[in-house]
Amino acid sequence: MYVPRAHQSAPLPPDMTDAAPKAEPLLRGSALVTGAASGIGYATALAFAHHGVVHLALADINLDALNASIRTLRESHPHVEVLPLHLDVRKPDEVKAGIAQAVARFGRLDVAVNNAGVGGRGMRTHQIDEDEWQRVIDINLNGVYRCQKEELAAMIAQEDLGHRRGRGVIVNVASMYGVVGPKNPLYQSAYATTKHGAVVLAMSILGLTKADANAYAPDKIRINAICPGYVATPLTVTHMEAQPESPLHDHVAQTPMKRMATPEEVADSIVFLASPMSSFMHGAALVVDGGHSLMHTAAASRPLYAYFCLALLLPVFASASLPSHCRGPHKMPSREELTQIRDNYLALWGGDLTLADKVLSQDVKLNIDRHPAASGSAPVIVNDRKAFLEFLTFARAGWETFHFKVIHWVADGQNIAVRWKAEATMGKDYAAPTTLKPGDPVTWNGTDFLVVDDESLIKEVNIAQDMMELFHALGMTSVPL
Ligand SMILES: NC(=O)c1ccc[n+]([C@@H]2O[C@H](COP(=O)([O-])OP(=O)(O)OC[C@H]3O[C@@H](n4cnc5c(N)ncnc54)[C@H](O)[C@@H]3O)[C@@H](O)[C@H]2O)c1
Repeated sequence: MYVPRAHQSAPLPPDMTDAAPKAEPLLRGSALVTGAASGIGYATALAFAHHGVVHLALADINLDALNASIRTLRESHPHVEVLPLHLDVRKPDEVKAGIAQAVARFGRLDVAVNNAGVGGRGMRTHQIDEDEWQRVIDINLNGVYRCQKEELAAMIAQEDLGHRRGRGVIVNVASMYGVVGPKNPLYQSAYATTKHGAVVLAMSILGLTKADANAYAPDKIRINAICPGYVATPLTVTHMEAQPESPLHDHVAQTPMKRMATPEEVADSIVFLASPMSSFMHGAALVVDGGHSLMHTAAASRPLYAYFCLALLLPVFASASLPSHCRGPHKMPSREELTQIRDNYLALWGGDLTLADKVLSQDVKLNIDRHPAASGSAPVIVNDRKAFLEFLTFARAGWETFHFKVIHWVADGQNIAVRWKAEATMGKDYAAPTTLKPGDPVTWNGTDFLVVDDESLIKEVNIAQDMMELFHALGMTSVPL
Protein backbone atom coordinates (compact mmCIF):
# COMPACT_ATOMS: atom_id res chain seq x y z
CA MET A 1 0.00 0.00 0.00
CA TYR A 2 1.31 3.49 -0.84
CA VAL A 3 1.36 5.81 2.16
CA PRO A 4 2.49 9.40 1.57
CA ARG A 5 5.78 10.21 3.35
CA ALA A 6 4.26 12.93 5.53
CA HIS A 7 1.84 10.46 7.00
CA GLN A 8 4.14 7.49 7.40
CA SER A 9 4.73 8.19 11.06
CA ALA A 10 1.00 7.89 11.81
CA PRO A 11 0.19 4.37 12.98
CA LEU A 12 -2.00 2.42 10.57
CA PRO A 13 -5.08 0.64 11.87
CA PRO A 14 -4.24 -3.09 12.04
CA ASP A 15 -6.56 -3.98 9.16
CA MET A 16 -4.93 -1.39 6.83
CA THR A 17 -1.71 -3.37 6.66
CA ASP A 18 -3.26 -5.92 4.33
CA ALA A 19 -2.64 -6.05 0.62
CA ALA A 20 -5.24 -5.56 -2.09
CA PRO A 21 -8.38 -7.65 -1.62
CA LYS A 22 -8.10 -11.36 -2.37
CA ALA A 23 -8.91 -12.39 -5.91
CA GLU A 24 -12.24 -13.94 -5.00
CA PRO A 25 -14.97 -13.68 -4.17
CA LEU A 26 -15.60 -10.00 -4.83
CA LEU A 27 -18.59 -9.96 -2.50
CA ARG A 28 -19.70 -11.92 0.52
CA GLY A 29 -22.41 -11.90 3.14
CA SER A 30 -25.88 -10.47 2.59
CA ALA A 31 -27.41 -7.94 0.23
CA LEU A 32 -30.73 -6.23 -0.34
CA VAL A 33 -31.88 -5.04 -3.79
CA THR A 34 -35.09 -3.05 -4.36
CA GLY A 35 -36.88 -3.16 -7.69
CA ALA A 36 -35.36 -6.64 -8.02
CA ALA A 37 -38.09 -8.24 -10.12
CA SER A 38 -36.92 -6.71 -13.38
CA GLY A 39 -34.23 -4.93 -15.39
CA ILE A 40 -31.21 -3.54 -13.57
CA GLY A 41 -32.43 -4.79 -10.16
CA TYR A 42 -32.78 -8.39 -11.30
CA ALA A 43 -29.46 -8.32 -13.18
CA THR A 44 -27.85 -6.97 -9.99
CA ALA A 45 -29.33 -9.80 -7.93
CA LEU A 46 -27.90 -12.34 -10.39
CA ALA A 47 -24.50 -10.62 -10.44
CA PHE A 48 -24.41 -10.50 -6.62
CA ALA A 49 -25.16 -14.23 -6.45
CA HIS A 50 -22.45 -14.86 -9.07
CA HIS A 51 -19.86 -12.79 -7.19
CA GLY A 52 -20.29 -14.31 -3.76
CA VAL A 53 -23.35 -12.94 -1.95
CA VAL A 54 -24.97 -15.89 -0.16
CA HIS A 55 -28.00 -14.18 1.42
CA LEU A 56 -30.17 -12.06 -0.89
CA ALA A 57 -33.24 -10.04 0.12
CA LEU A 58 -35.06 -9.12 -3.08
CA ALA A 59 -37.78 -6.48 -2.83
CA ASP A 60 -40.37 -5.37 -5.36
CA ILE A 61 -43.93 -4.09 -5.58
CA ASN A 62 -44.74 -6.61 -8.33
CA LEU A 63 -45.07 -9.93 -6.50
CA ASP A 64 -45.71 -12.15 -9.53
CA ALA A 65 -42.69 -10.80 -11.41
CA LEU A 66 -40.58 -11.03 -8.25
CA ASN A 67 -41.51 -14.67 -7.68
CA ALA A 68 -40.79 -15.53 -11.32
CA SER A 69 -37.38 -13.84 -11.16
CA ILE A 70 -36.51 -15.56 -7.89
CA ARG A 71 -37.44 -18.96 -9.38
CA THR A 72 -34.96 -18.38 -12.22
CA LEU A 73 -32.27 -17.13 -9.86
CA ARG A 74 -32.65 -20.17 -7.59
CA GLU A 75 -32.20 -22.48 -10.59
CA SER A 76 -28.87 -20.92 -11.53
CA HIS A 77 -27.67 -20.27 -7.94
CA PRO A 78 -29.21 -22.95 -5.70
CA HIS A 79 -26.70 -22.27 -2.89
CA VAL A 80 -27.97 -18.69 -2.39
CA GLU A 81 -30.60 -18.10 0.27
CA VAL A 82 -33.24 -15.74 -1.14
CA LEU A 83 -35.77 -13.79 0.90
CA PRO A 84 -38.60 -12.30 -1.22
CA LEU A 85 -39.88 -8.97 0.11
CA HIS A 86 -43.16 -7.82 -1.36
CA LEU A 87 -43.05 -4.11 -0.60
CA ASP A 88 -43.84 -0.69 -2.00
CA VAL A 89 -41.08 1.86 -1.43
CA ARG A 90 -43.82 4.51 -1.09
CA LYS A 91 -44.93 2.88 2.17
CA PRO A 92 -42.61 3.56 5.13
CA ASP A 93 -44.08 0.73 7.23
CA GLU A 94 -43.52 -1.86 4.48
CA VAL A 95 -39.94 -0.68 3.93
CA LYS A 96 -39.19 -0.73 7.66
CA ALA A 97 -40.72 -4.20 8.14
CA GLY A 98 -39.01 -5.63 5.02
CA ILE A 99 -35.52 -4.44 5.95
CA ALA A 100 -36.00 -5.57 9.57
CA GLN A 101 -37.02 -9.00 8.29
CA ALA A 102 -33.88 -9.24 6.12
CA VAL A 103 -31.60 -8.25 9.01
CA ALA A 104 -33.36 -10.67 11.39
CA ARG A 105 -32.99 -13.51 8.88
CA PHE A 106 -29.39 -12.88 7.74
CA GLY A 107 -27.88 -11.39 10.87
CA ARG A 108 -26.50 -8.33 9.07
CA LEU A 109 -26.87 -6.29 5.88
CA ASP A 110 -23.58 -5.89 4.01
CA VAL A 111 -24.83 -4.27 0.81
CA ALA A 112 -28.02 -2.41 -0.09
CA VAL A 113 -28.95 -1.31 -3.62
CA ASN A 114 -31.77 1.23 -3.81
CA ASN A 115 -32.87 0.68 -7.37
CA ALA A 116 -36.71 0.66 -7.49
CA GLY A 117 -37.81 3.44 -9.81
CA VAL A 118 -40.15 4.54 -12.56
CA GLY A 119 -39.84 6.79 -15.62
CA GLY A 120 -41.73 10.04 -16.06
CA ARG A 121 -44.44 10.50 -18.69
CA GLY A 122 -42.39 12.74 -20.96
CA MET A 123 -44.23 16.00 -20.41
CA ARG A 124 -42.98 19.52 -19.97
CA THR A 125 -43.33 20.99 -16.48
CA HIS A 126 -46.37 23.14 -17.24
CA GLN A 127 -48.19 20.01 -18.41
CA ILE A 128 -47.36 17.82 -15.39
CA ASP A 129 -50.15 17.66 -12.85
CA GLU A 130 -49.66 17.40 -9.11
CA ASP A 131 -50.40 13.65 -9.02
CA GLU A 132 -47.85 12.76 -11.69
CA TRP A 133 -45.16 14.95 -10.10
CA GLN A 134 -45.79 13.39 -6.66
CA ARG A 135 -45.82 9.85 -8.13
CA VAL A 136 -42.33 10.15 -9.61
CA ILE A 137 -40.88 11.99 -6.60
CA ASP A 138 -42.45 9.58 -4.12
CA ILE A 139 -41.04 6.45 -5.76
CA ASN A 140 -37.70 7.63 -7.15
CA LEU A 141 -36.61 10.04 -4.43
CA ASN A 142 -38.65 9.50 -1.25
CA GLY A 143 -38.44 5.74 -1.83
CA VAL A 144 -34.64 5.91 -1.75
CA TYR A 145 -34.77 8.03 1.42
CA ARG A 146 -37.11 5.51 3.14
CA CYS A 147 -34.90 2.56 2.25
CA GLN A 148 -31.62 4.32 3.02
CA LYS A 149 -32.93 5.44 6.42
CA GLU A 150 -33.67 1.85 7.48
CA GLU A 151 -30.49 0.47 5.91
CA LEU A 152 -28.34 3.02 7.76
CA ALA A 153 -30.08 2.24 11.05
CA ALA A 154 -29.31 -1.46 10.54
CA MET A 155 -25.72 -0.95 9.36
CA ILE A 156 -24.76 1.47 12.09
CA ALA A 157 -25.62 -1.19 14.67
CA GLN A 158 -23.52 -3.95 13.10
CA GLU A 159 -19.86 -4.88 13.42
CA ASP A 160 -17.20 -2.96 11.46
CA LEU A 161 -15.43 -5.50 9.20
CA GLY A 162 -12.39 -3.35 8.50
CA HIS A 163 -11.42 -0.52 6.17
CA ARG A 164 -12.30 -2.40 2.96
CA ARG A 165 -15.74 -3.58 4.06
CA GLY A 166 -16.68 -1.39 6.99
CA ARG A 167 -20.18 -1.65 8.40
CA GLY A 168 -21.82 -1.78 5.00
CA VAL A 169 -22.16 -0.31 1.54
CA ILE A 170 -25.10 1.43 -0.09
CA VAL A 171 -25.44 1.92 -3.86
CA ASN A 172 -28.20 4.21 -5.09
CA VAL A 173 -29.34 3.89 -8.69
CA ALA A 174 -29.61 7.43 -10.04
CA SER A 175 -29.27 8.15 -13.77
CA MET A 176 -27.14 10.08 -16.23
CA TYR A 177 -30.08 12.49 -15.89
CA GLY A 178 -28.68 13.04 -12.43
CA VAL A 179 -25.62 14.72 -13.94
CA VAL A 180 -26.93 16.25 -17.17
CA GLY A 181 -30.38 17.47 -18.20
CA PRO A 182 -32.58 15.39 -20.51
CA LYS A 183 -32.20 16.41 -24.14
CA ASN A 184 -35.29 17.74 -25.91
CA PRO A 185 -37.81 16.50 -26.76
CA LEU A 186 -37.45 14.03 -23.90
CA TYR A 187 -39.21 16.10 -21.25
CA GLN A 188 -38.46 14.50 -17.89
CA SER A 189 -38.40 17.29 -15.34
CA ALA A 190 -39.86 15.25 -12.45
CA TYR A 191 -37.56 12.30 -13.22
CA ALA A 192 -34.48 14.52 -13.56
CA THR A 193 -35.36 16.30 -10.30
CA THR A 194 -35.35 13.00 -8.45
CA LYS A 195 -32.04 11.92 -9.98
CA HIS A 196 -30.23 15.24 -10.25
CA GLY A 197 -27.77 16.68 -7.82
CA ALA A 198 -26.28 19.78 -9.31
CA VAL A 199 -28.72 22.45 -8.25
CA VAL A 200 -30.61 21.43 -5.14
CA LEU A 201 -28.32 18.97 -3.45
CA ALA A 202 -30.77 18.00 -0.77
CA MET A 203 -33.55 17.19 -3.24
CA SER A 204 -32.24 14.33 -5.31
CA ILE A 205 -30.74 10.88 -5.15
CA LEU A 206 -27.29 12.34 -5.73
CA GLY A 207 -27.93 14.94 -3.01
CA LEU A 208 -29.00 12.25 -0.57
CA THR A 209 -26.01 10.11 -1.57
CA LYS A 210 -23.49 12.91 -1.07
CA ALA A 211 -25.01 14.30 2.12
CA ASP A 212 -25.20 10.88 3.79
CA ALA A 213 -21.79 9.82 2.47
CA ASN A 214 -20.44 12.75 4.43
CA ALA A 215 -22.58 12.13 7.49
CA TYR A 216 -21.93 8.38 7.76
CA ALA A 217 -18.23 8.18 6.78
CA PRO A 218 -17.26 8.13 10.49
CA ASP A 219 -19.54 5.09 10.89
CA LYS A 220 -17.65 3.22 8.11
CA ILE A 221 -20.69 3.04 5.86
CA ARG A 222 -19.87 3.75 2.22
CA ILE A 223 -22.52 5.32 0.00
CA ASN A 224 -22.21 5.90 -3.76
CA ALA A 225 -24.56 6.36 -6.69
CA ILE A 226 -24.52 4.91 -10.16
CA CYS A 227 -25.74 6.99 -13.10
CA PRO A 228 -26.70 4.72 -16.00
CA GLY A 229 -27.42 5.99 -19.49
CA TYR A 230 -29.99 4.17 -21.61
CA VAL A 231 -30.33 0.56 -20.51
CA ALA A 232 -32.36 -2.08 -22.35
CA THR A 233 -34.92 -2.88 -19.64
CA PRO A 234 -38.73 -2.93 -19.69
CA LEU A 235 -38.67 0.72 -18.53
CA THR A 236 -37.17 1.84 -21.86
CA VAL A 237 -37.78 -1.01 -24.29
CA THR A 238 -41.55 -1.21 -23.77
CA HIS A 239 -41.82 2.51 -24.46
CA MET A 240 -39.55 2.40 -27.51
CA GLU A 241 -41.37 -0.54 -29.06
CA ALA A 242 -44.73 1.16 -28.58
CA GLN A 243 -43.51 4.49 -29.97
CA PRO A 244 -41.31 4.30 -33.07
CA GLU A 245 -41.10 8.12 -33.01
CA SER A 246 -39.85 8.25 -29.43
CA PRO A 247 -36.81 10.52 -29.10
CA LEU A 248 -35.10 7.67 -27.26
CA HIS A 249 -34.31 6.02 -30.63
CA ASP A 250 -32.37 9.08 -31.73
CA HIS A 251 -30.74 9.53 -28.34
CA VAL A 252 -29.46 5.96 -28.43
CA ALA A 253 -28.24 6.38 -32.00
CA GLN A 254 -26.39 9.55 -30.95
CA THR A 255 -24.71 7.89 -27.97
CA PRO A 256 -21.00 7.59 -28.83
CA MET A 257 -21.14 3.81 -28.30
CA LYS A 258 -24.29 3.74 -30.50
CA ARG A 259 -26.21 1.30 -28.34
CA MET A 260 -28.00 0.86 -25.06
CA ALA A 261 -26.35 -0.85 -22.11
CA THR A 262 -27.44 -4.32 -21.16
CA PRO A 263 -28.75 -4.57 -17.57
CA GLU A 264 -25.81 -6.91 -16.89
CA GLU A 265 -23.27 -4.19 -17.76
CA VAL A 266 -24.84 -1.83 -15.25
CA ALA A 267 -25.09 -4.63 -12.67
CA ASP A 268 -21.33 -5.26 -13.04
CA SER A 269 -20.64 -1.60 -12.22
CA ILE A 270 -22.91 -1.93 -9.18
CA VAL A 271 -20.91 -5.00 -8.12
CA PHE A 272 -17.78 -2.84 -8.34
CA LEU A 273 -19.31 -0.11 -6.15
CA ALA A 274 -20.58 -2.72 -3.69
CA SER A 275 -17.23 -4.51 -3.48
CA PRO A 276 -13.96 -3.75 -1.68
CA MET A 277 -12.54 -2.92 -5.14
CA SER A 278 -14.06 0.55 -4.69
CA SER A 279 -13.27 0.88 -0.99
CA PHE A 280 -11.99 4.47 -1.34
CA MET A 281 -14.96 5.65 -3.43
CA HIS A 282 -17.42 7.54 -1.31
CA GLY A 283 -20.15 10.02 -2.24
CA ALA A 284 -19.34 9.45 -5.92
CA ALA A 285 -21.65 9.37 -8.92
CA LEU A 286 -20.33 6.70 -11.29
CA VAL A 287 -21.54 7.48 -14.82
CA VAL A 288 -22.13 4.35 -16.93
CA ASP A 289 -23.66 5.73 -20.11
CA GLY A 290 -21.64 4.71 -23.18
CA GLY A 291 -20.47 8.33 -23.41
CA HIS A 292 -23.97 9.80 -23.76
CA SER A 293 -23.39 12.66 -21.33
CA LEU A 294 -20.32 13.71 -23.35
CA MET A 295 -22.72 14.90 -26.02
CA HIS A 296 -24.06 17.60 -23.76
CA THR A 297 -20.77 19.44 -24.06
CA ALA A 298 -20.35 18.69 -27.74
CA ALA A 299 -23.99 19.21 -28.67
CA ALA A 300 -23.62 22.74 -29.97
CA SER A 301 -21.16 21.71 -32.65
CA ARG A 302 -22.93 18.47 -33.51
CA PRO A 303 -25.09 18.44 -36.62
CA LEU A 304 -28.28 16.58 -35.79
CA TYR A 305 -29.36 14.28 -38.58
CA ALA A 306 -26.38 15.36 -40.61
CA TYR A 307 -27.24 12.94 -43.38
CA PHE A 308 -30.75 14.27 -43.55
CA CYS A 309 -29.59 17.82 -43.56
CA LEU A 310 -26.99 17.41 -46.28
CA ALA A 311 -28.84 15.04 -48.53
CA LEU A 312 -32.29 16.49 -48.32
CA LEU A 313 -32.93 19.75 -46.61
CA LEU A 314 -30.03 22.06 -47.32
CA PRO A 315 -30.82 22.06 -51.05
CA VAL A 316 -34.32 23.13 -50.06
CA PHE A 317 -32.94 26.01 -48.05
CA ALA A 318 -30.52 26.90 -50.77
CA SER A 319 -33.27 27.18 -53.38
CA ALA A 320 -35.78 28.83 -51.09
CA SER A 321 -36.31 32.50 -51.87
CA LEU A 322 -35.78 33.63 -48.32
CA PRO A 323 -35.45 37.37 -47.80
CA SER A 324 -31.80 38.35 -47.86
CA HIS A 325 -31.90 39.74 -44.34
CA CYS A 326 -32.57 36.20 -43.11
CA ARG A 327 -29.08 35.24 -44.14
CA GLY A 328 -27.22 38.35 -43.02
CA PRO A 329 -25.01 38.87 -39.98
CA HIS A 330 -27.77 38.76 -37.39
CA LYS A 331 -27.77 37.39 -33.87
CA MET A 332 -27.95 33.66 -34.51
CA PRO A 333 -30.05 31.59 -32.13
CA SER A 334 -28.21 28.76 -30.42
CA ARG A 335 -29.02 25.12 -31.10
CA GLU A 336 -30.90 24.97 -27.79
CA GLU A 337 -32.95 28.07 -28.70
CA LEU A 338 -33.80 26.62 -32.11
CA THR A 339 -34.89 23.37 -30.49
CA GLN A 340 -37.08 25.31 -28.06
CA ILE A 341 -38.59 27.37 -30.88
CA ARG A 342 -39.37 24.15 -32.80
CA ASP A 343 -41.00 22.56 -29.76
CA ASN A 344 -42.99 25.66 -28.82
CA TYR A 345 -44.18 25.95 -32.40
CA LEU A 346 -45.45 22.36 -32.49
CA ALA A 347 -46.97 22.73 -29.00
CA LEU A 348 -48.82 25.80 -30.30
CA TRP A 349 -50.33 23.72 -33.11
CA GLY A 350 -51.02 21.07 -30.49
CA GLY A 351 -53.34 23.53 -28.80
CA ASP A 352 -51.23 25.44 -26.27
CA LEU A 353 -52.31 28.88 -27.48
CA THR A 354 -50.68 30.52 -24.46
CA LEU A 355 -47.38 30.06 -26.32
CA ALA A 356 -48.40 32.38 -29.19
CA ASP A 357 -46.69 35.52 -27.82
CA LYS A 358 -43.56 33.54 -27.08
CA VAL A 359 -43.43 31.88 -30.50
CA LEU A 360 -44.84 34.16 -33.20
CA SER A 361 -43.80 37.64 -34.20
CA GLN A 362 -46.60 40.23 -34.40
CA ASP A 363 -46.52 40.23 -38.22
CA VAL A 364 -45.93 36.53 -38.83
CA LYS A 365 -46.64 35.27 -42.37
CA LEU A 366 -48.19 31.87 -42.98
CA ASN A 367 -48.19 30.17 -46.39
CA ILE A 368 -49.70 26.76 -46.98
CA ASP A 369 -49.13 25.17 -50.33
CA ARG A 370 -51.97 22.71 -50.38
CA HIS A 371 -55.07 23.58 -48.50
CA PRO A 372 -58.38 22.11 -49.65
CA ALA A 373 -60.85 24.94 -49.77
CA ALA A 374 -64.49 24.69 -50.90
CA SER A 375 -63.46 25.07 -54.53
CA GLY A 376 -60.35 22.93 -54.40
CA SER A 377 -56.95 23.99 -53.10
CA ALA A 378 -56.01 27.52 -52.35
CA PRO A 379 -53.04 29.13 -50.69
CA VAL A 380 -53.69 30.49 -47.27
CA ILE A 381 -51.88 33.68 -46.50
CA VAL A 382 -51.88 35.00 -42.98
CA ASN A 383 -50.16 38.27 -42.23
CA ASP A 384 -50.23 38.65 -38.48
CA ARG A 385 -50.34 36.76 -35.21
CA LYS A 386 -54.08 37.25 -34.61
CA ALA A 387 -54.97 35.83 -38.03
CA PHE A 388 -52.50 33.00 -37.48
CA LEU A 389 -54.26 32.02 -34.25
CA GLU A 390 -57.68 32.26 -35.94
CA PHE A 391 -56.49 29.92 -38.68
CA LEU A 392 -54.94 27.55 -36.17
CA THR A 393 -58.21 27.43 -34.19
CA PHE A 394 -60.13 26.81 -37.43
CA ALA A 395 -57.75 23.98 -38.41
CA ARG A 396 -58.22 22.26 -35.07
CA ALA A 397 -62.02 22.53 -35.11
CA GLY A 398 -63.89 19.24 -35.14
CA TRP A 399 -60.98 17.16 -33.91
CA GLU A 400 -61.17 15.66 -30.47
CA THR A 401 -57.40 15.45 -30.01
CA PHE A 402 -54.72 16.96 -32.17
CA HIS A 403 -50.98 16.93 -31.57
CA PHE A 404 -47.63 16.78 -33.35
CA LYS A 405 -44.42 14.82 -33.12
CA VAL A 406 -41.04 15.56 -34.65
CA ILE A 407 -39.89 13.00 -37.20
CA HIS A 408 -36.77 14.85 -38.40
CA TRP A 409 -35.57 18.41 -38.24
CA VAL A 410 -32.67 20.57 -39.24
CA ALA A 411 -31.72 24.14 -38.49
CA ASP A 412 -29.43 26.55 -40.24
CA GLY A 413 -28.90 30.02 -38.81
CA GLN A 414 -32.36 31.54 -38.46
CA ASN A 415 -34.11 28.82 -40.47
CA ILE A 416 -35.69 25.65 -39.20
CA ALA A 417 -37.16 22.79 -41.23
CA VAL A 418 -39.18 20.34 -39.26
CA ARG A 419 -40.75 17.21 -40.62
CA TRP A 420 -43.66 16.31 -38.38
CA LYS A 421 -46.34 13.75 -37.88
CA ALA A 422 -49.79 14.85 -36.78
CA GLU A 423 -51.88 12.48 -34.71
CA ALA A 424 -55.53 13.37 -34.33
CA THR A 425 -58.75 11.79 -33.21
CA MET A 426 -61.96 12.57 -35.04
CA GLY A 427 -64.41 14.62 -32.95
CA LYS A 428 -68.19 14.65 -33.21
CA ASP A 429 -68.38 18.19 -34.67
CA TYR A 430 -66.15 17.70 -37.73
CA ALA A 431 -67.77 19.83 -40.40
CA ALA A 432 -66.51 18.38 -43.73
CA PRO A 433 -68.01 15.20 -45.22
CA THR A 434 -66.22 12.12 -43.91
CA THR A 435 -66.64 8.40 -43.48
CA LEU A 436 -64.84 8.55 -40.15
CA LYS A 437 -66.62 8.20 -36.84
CA PRO A 438 -65.87 10.19 -33.69
CA GLY A 439 -62.89 8.65 -31.90
CA ASP A 440 -61.27 7.29 -35.09
CA PRO A 441 -57.52 8.00 -35.23
CA VAL A 442 -56.03 9.87 -38.20
CA THR A 443 -52.40 10.68 -38.94
CA TRP A 444 -50.68 12.74 -41.57
CA ASN A 445 -47.28 14.27 -42.22
CA GLY A 446 -45.80 17.51 -43.38
CA THR A 447 -42.72 19.67 -43.40
CA ASP A 448 -42.76 23.22 -42.08
CA PHE A 449 -40.09 25.75 -42.96
CA LEU A 450 -39.77 28.42 -40.29
CA VAL A 451 -37.86 31.70 -40.42
CA VAL A 452 -36.90 33.21 -37.09
CA ASP A 453 -36.31 36.93 -36.46
CA ASP A 454 -33.64 38.59 -34.30
CA GLU A 455 -35.87 38.29 -31.23
CA SER A 456 -36.09 34.51 -31.79
CA LEU A 457 -39.75 34.82 -32.82
CA ILE A 458 -41.05 33.05 -35.90
CA LYS A 459 -41.75 35.58 -38.63
CA GLU A 460 -42.50 33.25 -41.52
CA VAL A 461 -44.06 29.80 -41.74
CA ASN A 462 -44.20 27.80 -44.97
CA ILE A 463 -46.11 24.58 -44.67
CA ALA A 464 -45.90 21.68 -47.12
CA GLN A 465 -48.33 18.98 -46.08
CA ASP A 466 -48.53 15.55 -47.63
CA MET A 467 -52.08 14.96 -46.61
CA MET A 468 -52.93 11.97 -48.79
CA GLU A 469 -53.23 9.67 -45.82
CA LEU A 470 -55.65 12.05 -44.19
CA PHE A 471 -57.71 12.50 -47.31
CA HIS A 472 -57.97 8.77 -47.85
CA ALA A 473 -59.00 8.39 -44.24
CA LEU A 474 -61.66 11.00 -44.82
CA GLY A 475 -62.99 8.96 -47.71
CA MET A 476 -61.72 11.25 -50.49
CA THR A 477 -60.16 9.60 -53.50
CA SER A 478 -58.45 12.61 -55.07
CA VAL A 479 -57.41 16.06 -54.07
CA PRO A 480 -57.97 18.77 -56.70
CA LEU A 481 -54.95 21.06 -56.80
N1 LIG B 1 -33.50 1.64 -18.01
C1 LIG B 1 -32.80 2.75 -18.11
O1 LIG B 1 -32.48 3.20 -19.20
C2 LIG B 1 -32.36 3.48 -16.86
C3 LIG B 1 -31.41 4.49 -17.00
C4 LIG B 1 -30.99 5.18 -15.88
C5 LIG B 1 -31.49 4.85 -14.63
N2 LIG B 1 -32.42 3.87 -14.52
C6 LIG B 1 -32.93 3.58 -13.18
O2 LIG B 1 -32.71 2.23 -12.88
C7 LIG B 1 -33.70 1.80 -11.95
C8 LIG B 1 -34.28 0.47 -12.44
O3 LIG B 1 -34.90 0.69 -13.67
P1 LIG B 1 -35.06 -0.44 -14.78
O4 LIG B 1 -34.69 0.18 -16.06
O5 LIG B 1 -34.41 -1.68 -14.37
O6 LIG B 1 -36.65 -0.55 -14.78
P2 LIG B 1 -37.63 -1.79 -14.62
O7 LIG B 1 -38.97 -1.24 -14.87
O8 LIG B 1 -37.15 -2.95 -15.43
O9 LIG B 1 -37.48 -2.18 -13.07
C9 LIG B 1 -37.94 -1.35 -12.05
C10 LIG B 1 -38.46 -2.24 -10.95
O10 LIG B 1 -38.87 -1.38 -9.86
C11 LIG B 1 -40.10 -1.89 -9.37
N3 LIG B 1 -40.85 -0.82 -8.71
C12 LIG B 1 -41.48 0.22 -9.30
N4 LIG B 1 -42.11 0.95 -8.38
C13 LIG B 1 -41.88 0.35 -7.18
C14 LIG B 1 -42.29 0.65 -5.86
N5 LIG B 1 -43.09 1.69 -5.60
N6 LIG B 1 -41.88 -0.15 -4.86
C15 LIG B 1 -41.09 -1.24 -5.12
N7 LIG B 1 -40.70 -1.57 -6.36
C16 LIG B 1 -41.08 -0.77 -7.38
C17 LIG B 1 -40.83 -2.42 -10.60
O11 LIG B 1 -41.86 -3.34 -10.25
C18 LIG B 1 -39.69 -3.05 -11.38
O12 LIG B 1 -39.53 -4.43 -11.06
C19 LIG B 1 -34.71 2.93 -11.83
O13 LIG B 1 -34.44 3.67 -10.65
C20 LIG B 1 -34.44 3.77 -13.04
O14 LIG B 1 -34.76 5.12 -12.85
C21 LIG B 1 -32.87 3.16 -15.60
